[in-house]
Amino acid sequence: MPKTDVLIIGSGIAGLSFAIKMAKRFPDQSITVITKADDGESNTKYAQGGIAVVLDEITDSFEKHITDTLKAGDGLCNREVVEFVVKEGPERLKEIIDWGVEFDQDASGKLALSREGGHTAKRIIHYKDITGLQIEKSLLAQVAQLPNISLLAHHFSIDLITEHHFKHKISQPETGITCYGAYVMDQRTCMIEKYVSKVTLLATGGCGQVYRVTTNPQIATGDGVAMAYRAMAKVKDMEFVQFHPTAFYTLDENPAFLITEAIRGHGAYLRTQDGVRFMLKYDDRGELASRDIVAKAIDNELITRGDNCVYLDCTHLLKEDILLHFPNIYEKCLSKGIDITSQWIPVAPAAHYSCGGIEVDVNGKTSITNLYACGECSCTGLHGANRLASNSLLEAIVFAHRCYTDVEHTIASIATPANIPDWNAEGTTIPREQILITHNRKELRDLMSDYVAIVRSNERLSSAQMRLNILYQETEKLYHSAVLSPQLCELRNLIAVAYLITRQSIDRKESCGVYYNTDYAALP
Ligand code: FAD
Ligand code: SIN
Repeated sequence: MPKTDVLIIGSGIAGLSFAIKMAKRFPDQSITVITKADDGESNTKYAQGGIAVVLDEITDSFEKHITDTLKAGDGLCNREVVEFVVKEGPERLKEIIDWGVEFDQDASGKLALSREGGHTAKRIIHYKDITGLQIEKSLLAQVAQLPNISLLAHHFSIDLITEHHFKHKISQPETGITCYGAYVMDQRTCMIEKYVSKVTLLATGGCGQVYRVTTNPQIATGDGVAMAYRAMAKVKDMEFVQFHPTAFYTLDENPAFLITEAIRGHGAYLRTQDGVRFMLKYDDRGELASRDIVAKAIDNELITRGDNCVYLDCTHLLKEDILLHFPNIYEKCLSKGIDITSQWIPVAPAAHYSCGGIEVDVNGKTSITNLYACGECSCTGLHGANRLASNSLLEAIVFAHRCYTDVEHTIASIATPANIPDWNAEGTTIPREQILITHNRKELRDLMSDYVAIVRSNERLSSAQMRLNILYQETEKLYHSAVLSPQLCELRNLIAVAYLITRQSIDRKESCGVYYNTDYAALP
């Protein structure tokens, strides 16, 4: 039985930042990071725009960043959280720079700042258009230098270990559930082992794969939220799935390639097929309105005009600026036959970010004892109904530090019980075919994209709920009879997350932030 002092599920910015802090502070404690794909595969790796941090005291201020975040969040942010995240940003940024993360500098050697939608000042720190790759690589390099961290790639966490596993009965909520680690499948051997730990951190990222078109890589199947929900943790604000306005228009590419908002920050225009710039019709800030407004405006143009995509026009920008700041996007578009210095880029909204997640307090603690959550899988109160661009990487580093500070004081007093049972695979057999899994995953994505995306209605939501119930019943039957595979577990998790998005959207009873419910508000 693998035993570790600290178990971290996920190797993106949230999991790795927490691991580094814990390992440096407690060289005698064992830290295990498990991750279901290659060690660097994560939403973090694909981040483009950068991290929002207030650095320029002349043109910017904490108060401005706080106001922008609250405005984007449509009245549902927790002001206390917004304030400390913004104010702690500079210190946390310095820390990751000390760990080796590089960012672009301007001619005077200061960190270069760019602008994105919803921000009233230039405050996005970035590394060309591959900020996430730079962060992920540097954090992994730092982890490799710390001997008390074991990083296990291709290890899939199936479920959290709580009392209801070893008592063989379901605990009641609110009566003190405790987490003792997780059941984890080594994907090379298909063996499922219990990883017993004093403290467990869920850092499993987003759930974009619940939709047909998403910027999120294949790993983003909402596993952490689903595991926490099954363990009866509180889960909040799941209805607020943010759609990025400008993913490269695709029918079949998964994930869809993102065209960063920073390009609009540099002055790119959005146009309909006939060349009309339409954003000023919707918001005085035009292309630099916050993401919810731009995504909803594009969605509306597509519906009313019957088009499949709109266009991002960079042709008036300086070619050398494009090549300097957006080399990855330039190359990627060129590989698809579009030279962005002379041709418009076809774009459409794509599921991008989960604003909700596992509810945590100001120290990243979930409602389950010894279970923390950090990064995109958590709901801290920072984003409300719509995340301000580039606030996500910021949230991850601030909360990784807060989780660490909390665990620092408690870990010495935590003991783990000896009687935790092994995983029970009794009575399961290898399924004869995979079609139920692949079909249901496709059906789920279509259902969510057609009924529970940017535009919703009560009728669509209740219809989605009924269909989800059928998918749930079928998948549960399979889950209890089949030898487990990551594919089956992911489907089960996606269904749980889809249910939460739909149910919490029904309960919200209003149009808010990232989506419209046509029963409560007219289209723009
Ligand atoms: P992730 O980085 O997604 O890491 C999740 C980890 O959990 C992965 O290692 C995964 O393999 C692992 N995992 C998941 N399930 C399991 C399981 N069952 N068992 C074991 N391991 C598991 N935000 C910004 O602030 N600025 C940006 O510029 C920006 N650009 C973005 C561009 C793109 C294309 C995308 C997709 C997102 C972008 N975001 C951006 C959002 C941001 O990148 C993410 O919210 C953030 O990186 C999430 O970090 P994380 O550590 O919480 O999760
Ligand atoms: C982008 O670069 O447009 C994405 C930024 C974000 O998701 O915060």
